Amino acid sequence: AVTSSPPSSLKASLILLPSTFAYLLTYFSIPFISNFLLKANMYGLDIGKRGTPTEHDKVPEALGIVPGTVWILLLCLSLPLLISTHPSLTLPLLSSLFTVLFMLFLGFTDDVLEWPWRVKLLLPAISSIPLISVYEGSTSILCPNQLTWIFWTPAGGLTNFSTAVSNFITAYPNSPTNLIDIKYFYYLYMSLLSIFTTNSINIYAGINGLEVGQSCVIAGSILTHNVWSLGKGVNVEGSWFSVALLGPFLASSLALCCYNWYPAKVFVGDTYCYFSGVIFAVVGIHGHFSKTLLLFLMPQVLNFLISIPQLFKIVPCPRHRLPRYVKETGLMTVSRREDGGMNLTLINVVLKVCGDMKEEHLTMVLLMVQVGFSGLGFAIRYGGGSSLFFN
Ligand code: UD1
Ligand code: MG
Repeated sequence: AVTSSPPSSLKASLILLPSTFAYLLTYFSIPFISNFLLKANMYGLDIGKRGTPTEHDKVPEALGIVPGTVWILLLCLSLPLLISTHPSLTLPLLSSLFTVLFMLFLGFTDDVLEWPWRVKLLLPAISSIPLISVYEGSTSILCPNQLTWIFWTPAGGLTNFSTAVSNFITAYPNSPTNLIDIKYFYYLYMSLLSIFTTNSINIYAGINGLEVGQSCVIAGSILTHNVWSLGKGVNVEGSWFSVALLGPFLASSLALCCYNWYPAKVFVGDTYCYFSGVIFAVVGIHGHFSKTLLLFLMPQVLNFLISIPQLFKIVPCPRHRLPRYVKETGLMTVSRREDGGMNLTLINVVLKVCGDMKEEHLTMVLLMVQVGFSGLGFAIRYGGGSSLFFN
């Protein structure tokens, strides 16, 4: 436990200083590292430009390696202070460092080697092993009142049954009986969460600025939630842990965004998607707000659900599902599969609803959708939903 609470000025500087450094270091390293990546033939062709990409559209790939490395470097440097001011966070901090480092490495290997899908699913599960092996926290989940009947067993007797039924009907908040120990399933859940966050960001991609943009909106939403919790004095350790990790992450992501924004000078690569995805999983798990985290990932959940027929090969899935550039109009339009049906992505659904638009406008619209869903997430979390599902 924390022996004495450090002054808030020290706390603030523990976030602001690394974040400022993270931004500057990332911003100034990217052009330099881009040259090395190009020399090593690590580039992608910008498919959303000119219709058919040409050699002129060579864009250095896997630049997520820069914010990733910067983040790890700064966490290492601030570790002595973080641990001395918050000894109880030692284990969460060290295991997070292991897991993120591992995922960053695996993400970079994906950019170099282009793993097949089954491997892409396996990588985050492997990387979550360090996190899971040292996880000493609770394996109980706070079950929504409406769902307590799932855990009713005949052994629990009639009283237990009637409690479950009355829970379902009245949904009264803060019932202590709703804390349910799911034991080993919690470890499975942590692994699945890492697989979901990393891959769901990676498949909601293909237009300039989207991968890093959505990550910034998600990080901003989580940070807002954490700062609110800190202000209210609830889940202080968890929130503080999350802020310490997400501050430098958001700062370095914003620096990357400057280069990845339309027209992209660099691509973030799978390296960045896995890096950002695993950070969200890590802060959600060790910060004890993994259900709230999912509220901020609603567009990713939606995109995943829409994608299922293609992901499971029920309908054909081309190598790239990103929208198609129309040379004549200069706009992006819904992309189609070989059998004529449209590629099943949220990006295409938005294009279908709003009509064709320029790539940069499409990114803006999708990020507004992300912000809108975050607003809905906050409404659910703090509004009526807090007593219904998040008691
Ligand atoms: C995922 C998507 C794929 C999408 C791709 C785009 C699924 C199952 N997979 O694959 O449909 O096309 O991401 O990132 O949904 N690119 C651009 N403009 C951008 C970003 C990327 O043209 O703004 C192209 C570049 O050629 C770049 C390549 O996409 O080299 C990167 O693709 P990669 O991240 O390797 O694809 P996946 O993650 O496998
Ligand atoms: Mg990718």
